[in-house]
This record gives sequence, C-alpha cells and structure tokens, in this order.
Amino acid sequence: MITFDFTNMMSEAVGRNGVNTDDINSLKEQLEIIHSDIVKRRLPEMYFLDLPNQDTDDINAMADNIRSSSKYFLLLGIGGSALGPRALLDALKPFYNLNHSPKIFIYDNVDPSTLTTILSLIDLKKTVVNVITKSGSTVETMSSFLILINALKKAHGKNFSKWIIATTDPEKGILREIAEKENFKTLPIHPHVVGRFSVLTPVGLLTAAVAGINIKGILKGAKDMLMKCAGENLWKNPAYICGALMYLMEEKKKKNISVLLPYSDRLKAFSEWYCQLWAESLGKNNKGQTPYPSIGVTDQHSQLQMWMEGPKDKVITFIDILDYGDDIAIYDEDIKSLGYLKNHTLGELIRAEQEATELALVKAGMPSMRLNVPKIDAYYMGQLFLFFELVTAVTGMLHGINPFNQPGVEEGKNLTYGIMGRKGYEDKKKEVVEYRKKIKNSKYKI
Ligand code: PA5
Repeated sequence: MITFDFTNMMSEAVGRNGVNTDDINSLKEQLEIIHSDIVKRRLPEMYFLDLPNQDTDDINAMADNIRSSSKYFLLLGIGGSALGPRALLDALKPFYNLNHSPKIFIYDNVDPSTLTTILSLIDLKKTVVNVITKSGSTVETMSSFLILINALKKAHGKNFSKWIIATTDPEKGILREIAEKENFKTLPIHPHVVGRFSVLTPVGLLTAAVAGINIKGILKGAKDMLMKCAGENLWKNPAYICGALMYLMEEKKKKNISVLLPYSDRLKAFSEWYCQLWAESLGKNNKGQTPYPSIGVTDQHSQLQMWMEGPKDKVITFIDILDYGDDIAIYDEDIKSLGYLKNHTLGELIRAEQEATELALVKAGMPSMRLNVPKIDAYYMGQLFLFFELVTAVTGMLHGINPFNQPGVEEGKNLTYGIMGRKGYEDKKKEVVEYRKKIKNSKYKI
C-alpha cells in the first residue's frame, strides 16, 4: 500500500509553520460529520467513491476492438475529460506512441495548429475518434468534434459513424442526441460524476485499455485505497488527516500554494491532473490554495530556491517512488573527481535527492508531507487517484464549500458564446462590445 507520512507538517519538525496535534484534533467533530456524509453519500457527486466496483467488461471489449481494427486513436475532450486519460497514459505507458499501435493522440485545446499537426500525422481511414464530454456541449470539444465528423465523412462516406465513440452522459446532452441519431458507439459517464473526478470512469479507462493497461488493476488499487480511508478515526485515515492538514495550512498558517512534487517524469501529467482537481474543486469564496505542478528532481534546478528562501506561503507534497524498476548503474570506471558516484545507480541518486531536498526544506522551516509509492503501476496509480480525489472532497467540505461545482468558469464560457453568436447570449455580446471600446480607448497603452 501507499503510505502517508506527515511528520514534516508538524510544528515539532518545522516550528511555527507547522501544526500541532491540538490543531488537528480541533477538527474532529467536523470530520465526524463529514465521515457520516461520505458514508451516506450525502451529495450525489460522491458517487465517484463507488466507481472502483464497476464492471469493466464493456470497456475492455471495446478497447480490444479498437486495438485490432485501427492504427490511430484520437481523443477529443478538455479538462477532466482529457487530463485523467493523459495522466494514466504517461504514467503507465511512457513514450507510448514511439513503439505502440494504435497511436494515441489527446487533443484538449482549440489551437488550430495542434489539430492541423495531428491530422497530418494520422490516417483518418484507420482512426477511431473518442469524443468525451460529460455535459455533451462543451464548445471546445464540440467544435473539434464537428471538424472530425466532416473529415471522417470525407474519409468513409456514410460509414463514418462506425469510427466514432461518444463518451458522455447516459441520457442527456447534445452529444447524446447526436450519438443516438447517428448510431455512434457510446460509453456512459455516470450522471453524478463530475469531470475532474471521472478518471476512473470510461473517460480514463478506455484510453488506458486501448494502450494495454490493466484497468482492473487500477480499480483494485482505488478500492484498496478506499478501504484504507474508510475508518472514522481521523488519526488512522490518511485522507482525513491529509484534508485536515491542508485545511489548517491554508486557514491557520496562510499557506496558499500547494506544490505537488512527484519524483518521476512519469507523473508529470498526473501533477497536471491534480492541479485541475484541486483548483476547480476548491477555488471558491475567495479561498483555496493555488496548486503548482512540479517534478523532482528537475524543479530543484528551477523552483527550489523560491521554496527555500522565498515567501513561506507553500506546502509541498512529495511523491517518493520506492522502486523505479529498471535501474541504471552510473559508472564503474575510475574517474577520481567523480569517485563518489562510483557503483551507485540513478535510482539511488533520485531517491537521495528527494530525501536531501525534503531535509533542506525542513531545515528552512517549510512544511511538507510525503506519499511513499512502492512503484508506478496500474494498481498504485488507482490508489493515487482515489487518494487525491478523496482528500480534495474532504478539504472542500472542511472549508464548507461544494467541491463538486465550478460556477467560476461559467462567466468566461457565456462571454465566449456571446462573441461566437450563440442564440440567447446577446447580452454577453453587448458586454464584449463595450469592453472592446474601453480597451481601444484606454490611455494605458504604449
Ligand atoms: O471538472 C469538470 O467538470 C470540468 O473541468 C470538465 O471536465 C470540463 O469543463 C469539460 O466538461 P465536459 O466533460 O462536460 O466537456
């Protein structure tokens, strides 16, 4: 199992930047209520906790079919509909496209140059397009989907729909309507699962299965983590303790930045997944820590100076990988000036650097905590996803906010609709016109 070490969050380790046991115990009653809410699934969006029990036969069957019938797999989606699949792919099949088929592309923006490049790299006659949108209407995803529908029509004529999978709400939304009309294959995203909590639905699992990842293993890991986080006793429940610590760090210690620092290139996309989860769930009521995605050791040569001697406004979560699998000896020749490296491995070096950085931060009075991950495989990835999802939910509930909505992203969306001329958004268009005038006449331009 992954273990959670929070020694360096405590004042015994980092002085006044740390918390003490009384601080944590002060949240006991609140956490008991949260525990009962979780057990009863008081909010329907807590359904993400039931995902580890799902049956994966349909997903695996569809993936087998894709693997045998296509050369390219193009995922269209944004936010939670893209970050989870990418995190899984990069962690468990790094550099996948260099030596595997079907080659997988994840298009999660509306940058025309990226789509042009992807289209130049794939053969549409051999490409399965998986369009993922929970709401079924996200403008970025639907725009690229419209482009792909046209392109697939050109490539396949009236058989185009056989090359499309729609992953969306089982009942509602524009994509669901189109899918039914055009007879696309579909995969459901449970109505109560929010995008950023959807990695363990077909959203993440289909891409993983297409890449040959053991998706049952992912769910088994998630299930075991859930068991480890199932008890009411906060001192024995890593998700409750972690949520409590993050809450206290923000509220009492003014740590407004949460740095996720995995010591593995393979977890870079996982860091980005975490950032969306943390930011969109917790940035509400003028509160919330800004998440920062980092990578050890690379960022020791980029960010560490700031963490050590900059403002003490951060809390760092290390992810330490206990076993990197294939290790590489550094050298065994006699080069005197580098003699200290003789007979050591890269695995030893990266772990030494993790430990040294952690200790340096402790000495600087910077709070940090650490997840010890035995190795990066499907099982432990499942544990990591579930752990951070639960911690995010618990932290949000401690703050008294709803971690499952995202009202703050609506305004930008609505203004975009106004600019693009969507019916019903004429007022938004007017606002934009006014804004453009203001900017045009601004004197603060050089
Ligand atoms: O977490 C969320 O709900 C969002 O980030 C969504 O994933 C994102 O906005 C995309 O939404 P949809 O899947 O409806 O296209």
